[in-house]
Amino acid sequence: MKKLTRRTFLEFLGISAASAFSGHYLPMGHSPISKLKAIPPSELDELQLADGLSYEVLIKWKDNISKKEKFGFNNDYTAFIPFDKNKPDDGLLWVNHEYVDPRFVSHFINDDISKKSKKQVEKEMDNVGGSILRTMKKDGKWKVLKNDPLNRRITAKTDIPFNWSEPILGKKSAMGTLANCAGGITPWGTILTCEENYDLFYGERDRKTGQRKPADYDYGWYLHFDNPPEHYGWVVEVDPMTGAAQKHIALGRCAHESATVKELEDGRLVVYSGDDSVNQFLYKFISSKPGSLSEGTLYAASTMMGKWLPLKYDEQPVLQKLFKDQTDVLIRMRQAAKFLGATPLDRPEDIEINPANGDVLVALTNNSTVGNYVGSILKISEKDGQYDALEFTSDTFLAGGEATNFACPDNMAFDPKGNLWFTSDMPGSHMNRADKPYYFPFKNNSLFVVPKEGEHAGMPIRVANAPTHAEFTGPSFSPDGKTLFLSVQHPGEFSASLNELSSHWPEGGDRMPKPAVVAIYGVDEVV
Ligand code: FEO
Ligand code: CA
Ligand code: CA
Ligand code: CA
Repeated sequence: MKKLTRRTFLEFLGISAASAFSGHYLPMGHSPISKLKAIPPSELDELQLADGLSYEVLIKWKDNISKKEKFGFNNDYTAFIPFDKNKPDDGLLWVNHEYVDPRFVSHFINDDISKKSKKQVEKEMDNVGGSILRTMKKDGKWKVLKNDPLNRRITAKTDIPFNWSEPILGKKSAMGTLANCAGGITPWGTILTCEENYDLFYGERDRKTGQRKPADYDYGWYLHFDNPPEHYGWVVEVDPMTGAAQKHIALGRCAHESATVKELEDGRLVVYSGDDSVNQFLYKFISSKPGSLSEGTLYAASTMMGKWLPLKYDEQPVLQKLFKDQTDVLIRMRQAAKFLGATPLDRPEDIEINPANGDVLVALTNNSTVGNYVGSILKISEKDGQYDALEFTSDTFLAGGEATNFACPDNMAFDPKGNLWFTSDMPGSHMNRADKPYYFPFKNNSLFVVPKEGEHAGMPIRVANAPTHAEFTGPSFSPDGKTLFLSVQHPGEFSASLNELSSHWPEGGDRMPKPAVVAIYGVDEVV
């Protein structure tokens, strides 16, 4: 038997678990035929990759994208839209910018939020939203074209109209978009960017008192900009060619993580979206007209009953008792879904549809309130495979834990061959701590692939490790499936201070950490 190094031992563990899943027994010392080799967990401040993969930084925080604008902070969702499907190596890359670390971005370092200046708030506002970047492949490598006339930023200051028949809190548009976490693509090539933890910026209105209630972690933007909380928490559509944006009220308001669109044969749309907070719900919108994101019905999932519950004011007496009208129901979607009996979930994050069998996969990150620290991926099978069905069955697709070698699944993407790639999002303050045994074995956050076929079929294989305190977010594939675009978000987030940085990624030395988007090459070769 060859010497069992730590790495080969971990590979062996992965293979053992894979064989347990696929029902095959692989004896110790078996050497895998596949090129795919798991890497062990890492606690180093490095972006590590499995053999056969390599990466380059495409763009990082503060890089100029035009003469006036810079790439924002904490990049998340990515999506590449080619100009022409027949020339898939040239187009626009959309990137979400979710939130800021004030220490790095506005240099606000004070426990008293009232001391944050308007200028500091504006600096933070400039660093969230999204970026549109002309991106093309030349000589096999992807490059962002700086100063391309199509490059632009959407920020927390961009005026964005509501797509709805009546004003929201008296206004027809919102000041900007923020908390842009994951997203989706429409069949007509626009981007859906989801406003997740909006309450950090403008708080949330207390239903009983009508007063603004700041979040526990509070950016205090309302101190200088009196924008209503109800203007945030929506799914926002952006046309990458023009930058034109709109907030889709019909999809409801919550901490939207993602918006995954399925077009039905008759052109109507189904949009799945999760509310990423503990014990919140999964939703789907079914349009009543082809291509509409404003006309249709929104449903919340009861996984207990296997039913989609309509959030329809006109048809639900319980909603008529508690809400003013349909707009009120949509603004308070969480409460409405709760009153209808939707099933609380363990933080529904990204959603992807399995191209092989049509199942809807929902990453459930974790829920410490019910003792679920490591999360799982939920599988929803719509009745008769119809996405507009109102009944479904559900089951666990993959459970986190030491047997599967991962914890806290978050963002997912299928490659063109049907392999599932997903990232982990363990709580940064709990990683690499012996007193947090749920997370300790997994070390830094990672990227996994679940092969569709072959000896590792169905089993997560760790193929990348993130730098210290970072999370991989926003995985998406280039049209040819050869490149994975991946965000590296919040490296060094738990640095003790600006003088005691926990990460210097990606520039190294004593440099400040910078969130960045990387292009990972070789993904089509290894699996
Ligand atoms: Fe922004 Fe739920 O991750
Ligand atoms: Ca996420
Ligand atoms: Ca995804
Ligand atoms: Ca997350």
